[in-house]
Amino acid sequence: MTIPEDIRQLLQIAEAKLRAGNFQASREIYSQALRKDPNSALVTHALGWIALRLNEVQAAVDLLSRAARLAPGVPAIHMDLATAHERAGDAASAVLHLRKAIALQPASPTAHRALGQLLLGLGQTPEALAALRHWARIENSAAAHYELGTALARSGDPKSAIDHLRQAVALEPNHGSAHCNLGLALEDVGQNAQAADALRQAIRLMRDPSVARYHLAALGAGEPPATCPPRYLVELFDNYADRFEHHLVTTLGYQGPQLLLDIVKSANPQPPLDVMDLGCGTGLCGVLFRPLARTLVGVDLAPRMISISKSRNVYDTLLQSDLAPAIDSQPEAFDLLLAADVFIYIGDLSPVFRAAATALRPGGLFAFTIERTDSADFLVLPTRRYAQSPAYIRRLSAQFGFEELASEDAVLRAGETGDVPGTVFLLRRQAP
Ligand SMILES: C[S@@+](CC[C@H](N)C(=O)[O-])C[C@H]1O[C@@H](n2cnc3c(N)ncnc32)[C@H](O)[C@@H]1O
Repeated sequence: MTIPEDIRQLLQIAEAKLRAGNFQASREIYSQALRKDPNSALVTHALGWIALRLNEVQAAVDLLSRAARLAPGVPAIHMDLATAHERAGDAASAVLHLRKAIALQPASPTAHRALGQLLLGLGQTPEALAALRHWARIENSAAAHYELGTALARSGDPKSAIDHLRQAVALEPNHGSAHCNLGLALEDVGQNAQAADALRQAIRLMRDPSVARYHLAALGAGEPPATCPPRYLVELFDNYADRFEHHLVTTLGYQGPQLLLDIVKSANPQPPLDVMDLGCGTGLCGVLFRPLARTLVGVDLAPRMISISKSRNVYDTLLQSDLAPAIDSQPEAFDLLLAADVFIYIGDLSPVFRAAATALRPGGLFAFTIERTDSADFLVLPTRRYAQSPAYIRRLSAQFGFEELASEDAVLRAGETGDVPGTVFLLRRQAP
């Protein structure tokens, strides 16, 4: 279809403005063109695309839908419409338009990629894997094999994951994340030596290798980092938050909060107490300790865990923070500090002990659980949790001015390979 000369000139100016990044000026010129030719699919599409770039999502949906009606069968319009629907929160329509784009242009890698990613986010794993497989077949790129391999590993198919992650690193040897995920998949099939090699490569190549280091330590092949990397922790607990209590309490028979209550009561503290719950999670300790508390402060790094705690209405204050700085900033403010099943994500406990000694009043109590090991001060277990030795805890206790009131070996919860052995400690801050 020929475009009249006056409109062609306007389109050239509008495109030049777009190339210069001047969306508003470009939009004005395209609008002039639309007034001259109200049924132009090309101009309507351009205006819809600009609205999308400016995050005017509903306007983008309206304009792009109209463009699709004016020119049925243009894959690029359906691709943009899918993005607009997704941003508007209408994932079903986004999927529909991606499928239309694929039907019109089956060999387009971008549409298969977008569909795979969208379906993964929706939890439609088999359909997502099918789309990612199409993408990898068409494009044969490191990116495609990496995303497919990663999705396969998460879906519980490490063997196929290894195949695609190996292709990713063959195509792009400097792809640090592909080496890292390859290492995890190799570990899943029991090839630990090869897994460690892949993780070492990842550590060499990644800008932030902290998570790869953590995994290497969990294989027993590297030094344990001082703490679990915060971004790993937040992702873990934000994804786990909604299943956390049912899984931990009902399925795994978790005992941490009750063990802390029992050991604290054994010291006969005089309520009401100012209490801080370190790594409060969803608030299981908060519920048990509320009757003893004058004030109850919860602190946790994971936002989703904090928001579940908030809905319980038992804490006076909830802080989303790493726990050592949160405790450290409140000198002699508390009678009792609690940490149930939290030190399993912190290896080196010196900063926490130092902060606890600051935040507790003389005579204040520090009650916590550890997973127990006797082979090192602390190490990362294959479960990706830390264990500490009681001897290490006793050394820290003496170093930071605590006396041990009680300690008890206990089963904390069921684990992947049987009961998880732990120790519950109750320390008292000595007068300076
Ligand atoms: C296994 S959950 C236990 C939650 C709660 N204490 C309970 O007994 O139900 C561990 C919690 O500690 C939090 N956590 C771990 N390391 C932390 C840190 N360094 N700072 C703050 N929160 C942390 C996690 O986000 C998670 O919510």
